[in-house]
Parts: sequence; structure tokens; C-alpha cells
Amino acid sequence: MASIDPKIQSRLIRDLEPVVAVELDRHIATTKDWYPHEYVPWSEGRDFAGPLNGDAWEAKDSKLTTVAQDSLVLNLMTEDNLPSYHTEIALSMGRDGAWNTWINRWTAEEARHSIVLRDYLMATRGVDPNELEDLRMAHMQVGYETPYDNDMLHTVAYVSFQELATRISHRNTGRISNDAVCEGMLARVALDENLHMLFYRNLLGAAIELEPNAAMVAIKDVVTNFQMPGAGMPGWGRKSVQIALAGIYDLDLHLNDVVQPVLRAWNLFEVTGLNAEGETARNELAAWLDQAASEVEKFNEKRDHHFERLVARGQEPLRLK
Ligand SMILES: [Fe+2]
Ligand SMILES: [Fe+2]
Repeated sequence: MASIDPKIQSRLIRDLEPVVAVELDRHIATTKDWYPHEYVPWSEGRDFAGPLNGDAWEAKDSKLTTVAQDSLVLNLMTEDNLPSYHTEIALSMGRDGAWNTWINRWTAEEARHSIVLRDYLMATRGVDPNELEDLRMAHMQVGYETPYDNDMLHTVAYVSFQELATRISHRNTGRISNDAVCEGMLARVALDENLHMLFYRNLLGAAIELEPNAAMVAIKDVVTNFQMPGAGMPGWGRKSVQIALAGIYDLDLHLNDVVQPVLRAWNLFEVTGLNAEGETARNELAAWLDQAASEVEKFNEKRDHHFERLVARGQEPLRLK
């Protein structure tokens, strides 16, 4: 992966600060405050085993399917790693002026997501609380580090896609939960993620105008190496396969509902005046998109066969599409 010239980075951080200020104002004018506690069905809750001598969790307590449980746990673990994301973002964007205000605002908004998800899962006994806590301890101790040496352009490019990816993942997790309360809660979280995506996407749009070649390289690196932020957590492999099979988040959604719309918003393939490095990066990006499109077709066919086999065995497939 090419690293961006540090001189370009520091110039960009300085020149983009007024853009951050404008986008921050727009974000605050658009977003509506909300209260996580209002989304949680507290009346369903009861004490757990332990100091309060309540009832230990049992698998039959949860009304969620296994795939809905997996997806909620994975999304919650992803949100739980916020201290690591805050650190990475602060290191790559710096703390000057509006950058600092944005980072703290964004962090405060993100914290609501883990609060509401955990409160919902505990009140409804949706998942094993001890397993969840053990997983959180393990996951947060691994932490999260960007593979981009805290390079601002790569980080902003990454979050432009990642916020939209989490939006879709939360929304579809709600849809598959079969619980209107869960669906409403996750639709609310998904709305936040969409506004975060808009902030970063607009910011990177301004960076493309100022430094098209460096931005093109960063976007190409991020798209062609993309991994969800929760990818390091214990049990990720099995859970992410089930989530893909269920159509909650798969390569089709990643390519057609995340990567392509963001690239289109930047008009990336119409950018003119690139140097050789910028052109090479754009060509590599185009080649990746073609390759991904053919993998989507293959995966969708495999999935159809998988579900046909399940139906033939008398099992009911749980999927969104
Ligand atoms: Fe979030
Ligand atoms: Fe977000």
C-alpha cells in the first residue's frame, strides 16, 4: 500500500479544516438527538443469577433466531471497540479546530449505539450475557488498529465506506430479528450511521478536489483491501458467513449498496487531470470492481444452491433475499 506524502497530508488537514467546520454545522443541523433508553423494552427485563439471585440465562429465554443473535452480537462488538476507533481517528485527523469538535461529537453519537444494543439484549435476554461479556473483554483487548499508519486520507476514505456498511448491517439485522422493537431501534442507529457516512463522504469529496491523485490512491487502497472493523473478533469467520448467507451483509450489498454509490457520489471515474500514479490507481480500482461483480454472481448462485438443499431437507431458510 502506498503511503501518502506527509507534506500533502499536513497541508490537507489544514486546508480541509474549514470544510470540517461546514460539514459539522450541517451535521448538527440535520441530526436529531435521541435517547437510547426510550428504545429498550425494560418491562421485559428481570434479574440475572449472581449477587441479585435472579434467574440464570437459558437459551430458551431468547426469542431471536441464531443468525439474528450472531448479527446483533457482531454489531454490538463492533460498536464496543469505540475507544480504539476514537484513538485511531484522533491520531490520523489531529485535534486542530473543527477536527477536534467533530471527533468528540462523533464519538459521543457512536457511544449511543453500544448502549442501546446492549440494553436491548439484556432487557430481552436476547443472548447469553456471560458469553457476551467474555467476548467484549476479549475483543476490546485485541483493539482495533487501521492498517494505514494513521494516514488521514486513507482513514477518511475507509470510514466513508464503513459507516455505510454498518448502516446496512444494522438495518438488515433489525429486519431479520422478527421483533418490531429491535427493528425500530436498529433503524434509528442506522440513521446515525448514514449521517456519519455523509459527513466523511463530503469531506473526502473536498479532498479529491484538492489532491485528486493522493485521494485516488487512498480510495483504491481502501476499496481493494476492505475489511469490516469487527473482522478481528473471536468467532468472526463463522458469524460473518452466516450473516452473508442470510443476506444481512454480503458482497452483493457491499459492492452495490456501499462501494458503488459512494464512488458515484464522488464522480471518481469522471475526475480529469490525474497524473500517472492517479490513473494507475483508478485502473486498479476499476479492475477490482469488475472482479468483485463476478464474485457476487458466483456467491449468489452458491447461496441459492445452499438454500435449495436446506429446503429439500425440510428446513426453513432464514434469509432476507
Ligand atoms: Fe455506530
Ligand atoms: Fe457511525
